[in-house]
Parts: sequence; structure tokens; C-alpha cells
Amino acid sequence: MSWIYLLFLIISSVELSASAQPAILEVPRPWQLEPPTKQNVLLLLADDGGFEMGAYRNRISQTPNLDALAKESVIFNNAYTSVSSCSPSRAALLTGLPSHQNGMYGLHQGVHHFDSFDSIWSVPKILSSKGNVRTGIIGKKHVGPSEVFKFDFERTEEEYPINQVGRNITNIKNLVKEFLHSNDTRPFFLVVAFHDPHRCGHVTPQYGSFCERWGSGEEGMGLIPDWHPIYYVWDEIDLPFYVPDTEPARRDVAAQYTTISRLDQGVGLVLKELKEAGFDSNTLVVYTSDNGPPLPSGRTNFYDPGIAEPMFIRSPAADARRNEVTYTMTSLLDLAPTFLDWFGVEYPKKAKTKLTGKSLLPILSAEPPNDPDAAVFASQSYHEVTMNYPMRAIRTKRYKLIHNLNYKSPFPIDQDFYVSPTFQDILTKGHCQANPAVVQKSPALLSTR
Ligand SMILES: *[C@@H]1O[C@H](CO)[C@@H](O)[C@H](O)[C@H]1NC(C)=O
Ligand SMILES: *[C@@H]1O[C@H](CO)[C@@H](O)[C@H](O)[C@H]1NC(C)=O
Repeated sequence: MSWIYLLFLIISSVELSASAQPAILEVPRPWQLEPPTKQNVLLLLADDGGFEMGAYRNRISQTPNLDALAKESVIFNNAYTSVSSCSPSRAALLTGLPSHQNGMYGLHQGVHHFDSFDSIWSVPKILSSKGNVRTGIIGKKHVGPSEVFKFDFERTEEEYPINQVGRNITNIKNLVKEFLHSNDTRPFFLVVAFHDPHRCGHVTPQYGSFCERWGSGEEGMGLIPDWHPIYYVWDEIDLPFYVPDTEPARRDVAAQYTTISRLDQGVGLVLKELKEAGFDSNTLVVYTSDNGPPLPSGRTNFYDPGIAEPMFIRSPAADARRNEVTYTMTSLLDLAPTFLDWFGVEYPKKAKTKLTGKSLLPILSAEPPNDPDAAVFASQSYHEVTMNYPMRAIRTKRYKLIHNLNYKSPFPIDQDFYVSPTFQDILTKGHCQANPAVVQKSPALLSTR
């Protein structure tokens, strides 16, 4: 028996005997001064991340940190985003409202210029105005207007180069430290929004299609001191079922896995900071992603590779389920009510909208009864501003219906995917007879994220 375990036994028996006595002493005892278990939330958000990790049975992609977190969490096997595009998904996650209610139909940046409606309530806004919670975001924000999505502490692409706050895990570690070591002692809601494993071939091709060389220490690539890149042999990886088995696609996926090693080690650093700052035992930790990977049938699609998300939630509660799987139909729209529930804050009564999601906290202590009719919903309108292709979907455990509202129109291909080795190979080999009307040739000035 280790001494820590012994100490734990002693403390818990002292606690037991203390609680059995009538409350005579007014003086607070040391353990009564301990912070309550339900105090903070840390949301770790990947960018176009899928199931490329051991926790989801990928045997090749090495993700010891994500796997360790998953082991201490409830692992969701039926989690879906309500929209398969970055800004819309983040706006939906942060407001609990689907795109057609929050107004964020497409990408936020540059010429795409989508914003949510001014009048809606976001989680950070509700928490800081009604819950006395300190809010922070590090990494990729990609939503607006800023009055709706205002955080007390913001270190995002609005002020810094996106790679430095979204992919440089040394910087991310330092920023998390700065946030956690504040003299502001209110409970916190912190979003660490990684830019990995997003593509970057369209913006900075010199770093590789997934920016897998950036910060690797190779000549001209700079160095991220805390990152130990993991490289993969392209002809030895297992491809997901929706990726064509070609050399370029294999090399593409190998690059994606290397970038995932940066994300994974970033998650490890952030969790280490959380622990060292003493918040391990009172923080709810959520890991998920905004939408599926930028591969065929993935991001911008409503097929499962586009909307199925990794998700695991670690609760500090003593009775929390750990290393267990839930098959409950879950939407990323459930996260906003989960956060409000955690902080005990009500959704504003004066809001014109109602949340349709449900708090996931009960699932963290017991698996709910199987409900075969439970469904999640999705609504997509754009990605880039030129990509109007409206879809609505409903998915139960067994069935899925995708309604393509404008099915006669060609399905638009976004720029990140268009220039990718996987898609270019499909085009040049003529696997699908390239119809110039089908693939959207995009002007170079549109920057995508
Ligand atoms: C925290 O410290 C800063 C100076 O470092 C000070 O301006 C601020 O008032 C302090 N805040 C609290 C809540 O103590
Ligand atoms: C990452 O951040 C660290 C710390 O700020 C810095 O020393 C390093 O040069 C950065 N790496 C890159 C590739 O920019």
C-alpha cells in the first residue's frame, strides 16, 4: 500500500467520523475549506479532428495523452456536431443553438464574413454576466460578433498568428499557465481551441498539407520546444473506410497523424498545467472537435465522417464513470446546457430562443436506459460564402436521413480539400470524372481556416 493511499484512507476516515458527529464546532475544519468539486470547466477543442487515436481503436496513430484522458472519462460513441463547418459548429457549441437559430451560417473570417445574430446568448456571456465565472479562450476563436462571444481572457487569431496560439504547444502551455495563475479566484470556463489537426496546404504549403513540418526542427521549419513529432510510414497505415487507398491519400493521412501528435502532446501539456495549478480535482474536462476530418465524405458533408465527433468528458466527481463508453445519442448542442448545469446557472429567461440540448452530467454517473428513438439533428447552409448547399439531417442510432434542399446544384468542394493531395489525386486519375462545374475553382484571395 503506498503512503498516498494510506493518507487518503486516514483523511477519509477522519471525514467520516467528523460528519457523523453533531455540528458543534463552528470553526471550519481544514477539509471544509477545500474548494467544491464542481468549480471549473476546461474545454479542449480540436480543429477538424476525428477518431485518429487509440481511445477510438485507431491502432496506428499514437496518442498517449488523449488515450490517458479518455481512460479517466466517459467516452461518447454517438456524438455528432449539428453542422459540419468550423465557425458554424463553434457558434452552435458556444450558444447551444443550431446555425439557423444562431445566425452563423458560414465561415467568420475574411470575405466569408459570417457573424451570429447580435441578440443571442453565448455560454461565456451567460457565465460572466449571470454566473460570476471567469472566461478564457486560447487558440482559434473564429466566431463573432465579439459582443456575443466575449471572453475575459482572449489569446486568439484576432491578436496573434493562428499557428502561434493554435499549433505552437509551447506557447499554448505558457498561455494556459498565465490564465490559471491569475489572482482572480472566480471559477473559470477555459476553452483551449487547437488549430491542429487542420490542413494548411492551401495557405502555407511549405509546411506540408497538415502543417506537419511546422515547428518540427527541420531546416527552415522552426522549432516547437515541447513537441516530439511522430512520423508514420505511409504504406503501413490503416486508412479510414472513406479514404481511397492511393499513395497520395496514404501520405496525406500519415501527415495528418504527425500533426495529431502535436495536438496530443498539447493536450498533455494543458492537463499538466491544470494539475500543477491545483485544479485537477474541481474541473470538468471535455475533449471534442468542431467537425470531421478534411477528407472525402468528411468536413462539409453530412455523412458520418463529416459529423461524427470524438468526445470524452472527465468529471472530478467521486462517483464519476471512468473508462466507460456511452452509446447515448449526443449532440454538440448538449454541451452548452451541460456547462450551465455544471455552474448552476440558468439560461436567460429573456432570451428569445430556448435550448434544445440536454445536460450530459447525468450520463457521467450512470448510463441512461437505451432509447432507440433518440435522435440528433443537423443543419448546414454554407462553409465558404460561395458554398451554398443547404442540408438538413436527422440521425437515430439506426437510421439517418439527409435532406439535400437544393440537390440539383453541384456539391461544392472547399479550398482546403480541393488542393489536398487526396483530392487532387482523385481528380487527375479521373476516379470521378472531373466535371468542372462540380469542383469549385476558388480564387486565391479567399483564405480558409
Ligand atoms: C490582480 O493583480 C493585478 C496586478 O497584477 C491588479 O491590478 C488587480 O487588481 C488584481 N486583481 C484582483 C482580483 O486582486
Ligand atoms: C513556439 O513558441 C516558442 C515560445 O514562444 C518559441 O520559442 C518558438 O520559436 C515557437 N516556434 C515556432 C515554430 O514558431
